[in-house]
Amino acid sequence: MISTDYLIIGSGIAGLTFAVKIAEKFTDRTVCIITKADDSESNTKYAQGGVAVVQDALEDSFEKHIQDTLNAGAGLCDGQVVEMIVKEGPKRLNDLIVWGANFDLSPNGKLDLGKEGGHSESRIVHHKDVTGLEIEEALLNRVGQLSNINFLDHQFAMDLITECHALSPQHQGQTCFGAYVLNKKNEKVETIRAGATILATGGIGKVYGHTTNPDIATGDGIAMASRAGAHIQDMEFVQFHPTVLYDGKGGRSFLISEAVRGFGAYLKNKEGHRFMLDYDTRAELASRDIVSKSIDQELKKSGNPCVYLDCTHLDIDDFKTHFPNIFSECEARDIAIDKDWIPVVPAAHYICGGITVNKEGRTSIGNLFACGECTRTGLHGANRLASNSLLEALVYAHNIYEYLGQQPVPSITSTTRQHNMESRPVLTYDIVKWNTTWNRAKLQALMRSYVGIVRNDDLLRAATERLAEMYEEIEELYEKYKLDTSLCELRNMITIARLIVAHSLERKENKGGFFNIDNEPST
Ligand code: FAD
Ligand code: SIN
Repeated sequence: MISTDYLIIGSGIAGLTFAVKIAEKFTDRTVCIITKADDSESNTKYAQGGVAVVQDALEDSFEKHIQDTLNAGAGLCDGQVVEMIVKEGPKRLNDLIVWGANFDLSPNGKLDLGKEGGHSESRIVHHKDVTGLEIEEALLNRVGQLSNINFLDHQFAMDLITECHALSPQHQGQTCFGAYVLNKKNEKVETIRAGATILATGGIGKVYGHTTNPDIATGDGIAMASRAGAHIQDMEFVQFHPTVLYDGKGGRSFLISEAVRGFGAYLKNKEGHRFMLDYDTRAELASRDIVSKSIDQELKKSGNPCVYLDCTHLDIDDFKTHFPNIFSECEARDIAIDKDWIPVVPAAHYICGGITVNKEGRTSIGNLFACGECTRTGLHGANRLASNSLLEALVYAHNIYEYLGQQPVPSITSTTRQHNMESRPVLTYDIVKWNTTWNRAKLQALMRSYVGIVRNDDLLRAATERLAEMYEEIEELYEKYKLDTSLCELRNMITIARLIVAHSLERKENKGGFFNIDNEPST
């Protein structure tokens, strides 16, 4: 059993930022970070475009960034949260710079600012097309310098410890006491007790299979919080990124950053028609939901498998300087971007909803906090504005730090009733492996065809039934065969899928990234 003042689940930008801040301030308090894969593996590591932060007071303003965010969110953002996050941006970006992250400069020595869809001004601070990697490395480096941080990789958080698992003499209502964690190195389940637990577990892209997200993005934190009874909101707002490299495989796919369209690339159909002009006056730089839905319509009209990004009219040397990673990934696939168009399709990219948190990052469960992509803060509403998520993660990690920094050392409540998790054997039967592989593929196919960019009530109801059956099947396996990471992940992914479908059926008006044909007025 491990005891710690602060348990952070997840080592992306959200978890690491909170860890650094709290460990720097309280050198006598203990901070434990757990992460389920290698230390850097996260959505953060793959972020390309950058961080949206107002820099240039002459051209840009907080008001413009606020308005762009509200426009993208289609009336469902929390205006106060938007204002707070946008105005905190410059300070939180500076934290990263102090910790050693480098961002590209223009010849005048100021930060070079990129442009992305839905932004009325250039305000994307970036490090070439590998901004996330630069941030992740700077944060991991700083974490390594702080001796009161205990960093444990390859540790899979299975469930939160709450009243269901422990009896608390002090608290009324649900409280979190830490987490049960499967140590993937020795296959033992350990209890980590904590005064405060911070969920920073990232996104859900793998629920769809065809996604920009890496394998870790199975929605574990949202699923754990949901099982523990936390309030979850807005899960119907799955954001599909419009321009993901088409490889015909439908699995994890390489992203062609929105910044490439900001740099001047055109979206064309097979015939060479620049079709975005037919859908929105902002053309390629309309907000993400509009571009994705337009591509979806083009594909359905034509029956073609993909559309194309045309960069052939751009200065290719300049392109290479800005997007070296995208250039070499295309080159490796025999796409010469000075001559060839890049084949692209939309794919699941980001979840706008998640665990409901207030401005201090507090969830509806005592001593449980959350930040980053696993949360619903009110910033995104019905659709996230490009490059607002790294910013949101930075601001909320800071807000939790501010809140907890004013509290006494959290008391680590001892559990008076031990759940049987630790005594459960870790067994991996072939039947479990076979079943999880098969059901995972089934789940992903179901989500792509029934719960994609354009939805309807019949398909959503059919998905509800199938998911209920899958859930029962997996619960039975979970109870019978006990603990296995792939089984736990699948259980979480089905929980997430059920939340997306249930919230989609509840939403009776189309907004932003959510579109149900049956919500359209009949003509
Ligand atoms: P993550 O960075 O995903 O970190 C989650 C962490 O939790 C990981 O360490 C993971 O291993 C760990 N974890 C998960 N489950 C468990 C578990 N059960 N037990 C233990 N550990 C667990 N946003 C922008 O603002 N700008 C961009 O340019 C941008 N580009 C993007 C490009 C790509 C390809 C992708 C995929 C996303 C992009 N995004 C971008 C979105 C942004 O990267 C993410 O929203 C953000 O990085 C999320 O940070 P996070 O810390 O919340 O989660
Ligand atoms: C991109 O670079 O297109 C991704 C930006 C984002 O997801 O915010």
